[in-house]
Amino acid sequence: MMLTRRKFLRSVGAGGIALVAPLGIASVAAAVDTSAWFRNPLRIPAMDEGRIIDGKRVFDLAMQYGTSHFINNLATPTAGINGSYLGPVLKVKRGEDVHLKVTNRLSEPSTLHWHGLNLPAIMDGGPHQVIPMGTTWEPRFNIRQPAATQWYHAHMYHRTGIQVYHGLAGLLYIDDDELHDLQLPSEYGVDDIPLVLQDRAFNQDGSLRYMGSMHDRMIGMMGPVMLVNGTAFASFKVQKPLTRLRLLNGSNARIYNLGLEDRREFLQIATDGGLLAQPVAMRNLVLAPGERCEILVEFKPGEDILLWHSPLPRRSRSSGPGMMGMMGMMAGNDRPFPIMRFDASQSPAMTRKIPAQLLEPRSWSTTEAVRNRRINLDMGMGMGMGGGFRINGKAMDINRIDFRVRLGEIEIWEIGNSSPMAHPFHIHDTQFRILDRDGKPPGAGEQGLKDTVLVYSGERVRIITQFEHYADARAPYMFHCHILEHEDAGMMGQFVVVA
Ligand code: C2O
Ligand code: CU
Ligand code: CU
Repeated sequence: MMLTRRKFLRSVGAGGIALVAPLGIASVAAAVDTSAWFRNPLRIPAMDEGRIIDGKRVFDLAMQYGTSHFINNLATPTAGINGSYLGPVLKVKRGEDVHLKVTNRLSEPSTLHWHGLNLPAIMDGGPHQVIPMGTTWEPRFNIRQPAATQWYHAHMYHRTGIQVYHGLAGLLYIDDDELHDLQLPSEYGVDDIPLVLQDRAFNQDGSLRYMGSMHDRMIGMMGPVMLVNGTAFASFKVQKPLTRLRLLNGSNARIYNLGLEDRREFLQIATDGGLLAQPVAMRNLVLAPGERCEILVEFKPGEDILLWHSPLPRRSRSSGPGMMGMMGMMAGNDRPFPIMRFDASQSPAMTRKIPAQLLEPRSWSTTEAVRNRRINLDMGMGMGMGGGFRINGKAMDINRIDFRVRLGEIEIWEIGNSSPMAHPFHIHDTQFRILDRDGKPPGAGEQGLKDTVLVYSGERVRIITQFEHYADARAPYMFHCHILEHEDAGMMGQFVVVA
């Protein structure tokens, strides 16, 4: 199933760029020097711990334009936060008050959303918290949830896809004293490594290519070049044999099925919202746009190994193989490709112990639930016109509140997908647990706190959650597909939490 590296390079050597050619983008092929593949040192984003002022953790963030050099010397106009592409890793601690000063230095309005955080709706940074050009937005909130790898990104109405694509995103780590007894690898950039996965397409002049075809509109924007932390063909020099990888699928639309070249086991230790109860051994992990996971990988001294995407497991469902098979193929999920390289040639031998128990993630019992909501994701028949992306038959309308949730009530949401492709469904303000997928309990790696769940075509996923701490009848939170082109095209809705 999986190509070996030698076979892969041979297929590349024939003249095409494996990633580029099958996806039909010839322009960038000429510019890529294959000998440089997976030799670019992985960029490690700056860690920003802010400044403590009057007991609050204060961050100064600027959304700005820049120029990046992803491929050879090609100059790519990009955007970032306190930098030219992506932003720093913001580190906050459970229990503390944070105050972020976000200045928009772009030439268009934007927003900055704190994905995964439980916070007041007016601090959320969704489409209602627009930051006009040249102004500063100052959300303040308390960190009320356990240690986790969260993230932030632009969330401008109808412009989220293009803004994130150009680089307006970054990671946000929540730290928690509880975590320290576990002695997980936690030396930032040494054995605790952020990996922001994004695929990008380029024009001949080096600029990012966004939304050229009907395919981009329908399936979502994908590209033939993998960036990891904004590094194309990245290589990371392993320094400790046991390395913790914090993965974010920061791509607009691509779903990854991650594994190491030799299909070795690794341990998943965390989901979107924090640690799992115990490490889960696996060889492959599916990560959809918006989702995060943390894994521990054991590298052997002297080895040199690639992280791969392999084809997603086929799921044939009710609507028959024709349309779904076609959509799967169009979604580019049917062929393997390398993502980045780990060079452990200098790594010492393994000494560290792995804890058998982590922390029990929060859960709710179905008997406590007072409400059952049905959500249906649908691409409609008008998708050729780009107008068919809907939830419960309606396209997003920023002036319509779809429903009200009562503060503190425990709810079950049943998410269906009547479209021919998978959609990662995300809810703001809360973390949830997955109850079941088509009536069956989720895999061990999904038995933790989540804020985004992939719902396959024809599938029915039930989640349980509780909206806590903040009610505001006027300011809505969003729920949406995290394929950003689907979100921008209408696969999004709004709810308010009321006291
Ligand atoms: Cu990560 Cu509403 O978004
Ligand atoms: Cu979000
Ligand atoms: Cu979608």
